[in-house]
Amino acid sequence: MSTVLLNKISEVKKEINNWKQSGYSVGLVPTMGALHRGHASLIKKAKETCDKVVVSVFVNPIQFCPGEDFDKYPRTIENDKKICEELGVDIVFAPNAKEMYGENSRLSNTELTFVCPPYNFVDCMCGKSRPGHFDGVATVVLKLFNIVKPDFAFFGQKDAQQLFIIKKMVKDLNLDITIIPCPIVREDDGLALSSRNSYLSEEERKNALTVSKALFYIKELYDKGVTDTSILFDSAISILDKNIELEYIEFRDFSTFEKVKEVKNNTLAAIAVKSGKTRLIDNIIL
Ligand code: PAF
Repeated sequence: MSTVLLNKISEVKKEINNWKQSGYSVGLVPTMGALHRGHASLIKKAKETCDKVVVSVFVNPIQFCPGEDFDKYPRTIENDKKICEELGVDIVFAPNAKEMYGENSRLSNTELTFVCPPYNFVDCMCGKSRPGHFDGVATVVLKLFNIVKPDFAFFGQKDAQQLFIIKKMVKDLNLDITIIPCPIVREDDGLALSSRNSYLSEEERKNALTVSKALFYIKELYDKGVTDTSILFDSAISILDKNIELEYIEFRDFSTFEKVKEVKNNTLAAIAVKSGKTRLIDNIIL
């Protein structure tokens, strides 16, 4: 079966209902498109796990803050479809904003129902500089879950806070979906893959490389027995290029998302920076 590109919710629902009647398990890989090897690894995992795989491609306006890169976010649907075909995806679901959010003139909570994840997990890390971002993510992901009704959904560990928030939503709202986290995919030199890497100039990319270097250094020190987060923080800072604008370095328990003073196994070390104008995130689990 070749990959079908669908834009309408009703068409996707019809197809999924047929699958469900035939007893097929369904996997969803939600994306904003501009697919790269990181997405491909999620799709491969979905193919291994499920009978049928849906990849959604939707640059979700409600998760971008004013002044962010919504307009310039790469939109490469032809190439995305080609990648999905090569990987044996059954449906690429690529709705537009009107299909997802209807005729509402304002895509805000004055007119639309939003999902608000717990304040404790939103008002920190990326949520601090991106107010409303995770409400927008949780809202679109719940809508995609309701449209596709997946048994499994696949998310990258690079967006660790997003992953945690989605898992929490699934638990708190009693959704019958298993969330499968997938490891970060990196370039050979260590840079974590991201659709936003395409914004980087050569110089900015070179500087951005010090982010993964700083994380690998944290891991190296931890493996040597250093557990004090203030020492690990300072050591990471010493690796970051001076042209990198640091937003945060945080150490959190990867299961509870609580901040830790002493790192241990399963601590998440996460970094957010700007290289030039491009905001990048990366992390490592110790
Ligand atoms: O991680 C992303 O690409 C997006 O936040 C997601 C999960 C597809 C929701 O728009």
